[in-house]
Amino acid sequence: MKRWLMVCGFVLTLSATVEAGVSPSACDDLSGVPVTPNVDFSTQIQPLFNSYCTGCHGGSGGLTLSAGVAYGNLVSVPPSAPVPVNRVEPGDASQSFLFWKLNCANPGSGSRMPIGGTLSPEEQAMIRDWINQGALPAAAAAATPVPGLSVAGMWTLVLLLLALGLSRSRLLVAR
Ligand code: HEC
Repeated sequence: MKRWLMVCGFVLTLSATVEAGVSPSACDDLSGVPVTPNVDFSTQIQPLFNSYCTGCHGGSGGLTLSAGVAYGNLVSVPPSAPVPVNRVEPGDASQSFLFWKLNCANPGSGSRMPIGGTLSPEEQAMIRDWINQGALPAAAAAATPVPGLSVAGMWTLVLLLLALGLSRSRLLVAR
């Protein structure tokens, strides 16, 4: 029974890979790089593009990664390369061509980026985390507490009033 399940799983995985047609290989293992919480696109991702990418992806056809337009050219946009995934699939770096291109020696189509170099594991992981966290245009703002009475405060008030009422009625009975 267990064996059958394993065989079925294997066949399913295989057919999924074949159906996709292309998939990356020889990728760097980033599992040891800790996740950076709340990655901010403009202060933590765009600077990487400015340093390593806009020399080639600066606007002369193809993919432009310059500040102000990079986000719109990446998120949920299909690549020009014949791959079955978007450049960036929000929430899933493993299904994002941008991440394949940075993380894998064989990125599924074309060369690894940046041509002539490789991002450090930490830099690759920053992009991984940004995508996995939803590929947001800006990090989610810290939750601000609602002004006014909190729920706990309200209950304290109710109990206080109840206690007051009780002691008053006791006094009346005692009289
Ligand atoms: C030396 C020039 C050069 C540099 C630097 C460079 N690229 Fe590229 N990039 C290319 C070329 C040429 C292609 C098209 C051929 C290919 O896919 O290999 C490309 C293709 C891509 C694609 C695929 C676009 C699509 O729609 O098919 C992505 C994504 C990409 N680059 C991201 C980057 C990122 C991110 C950086 C910086 C970390 C970068 N590139 C740095 C030249 C460069």
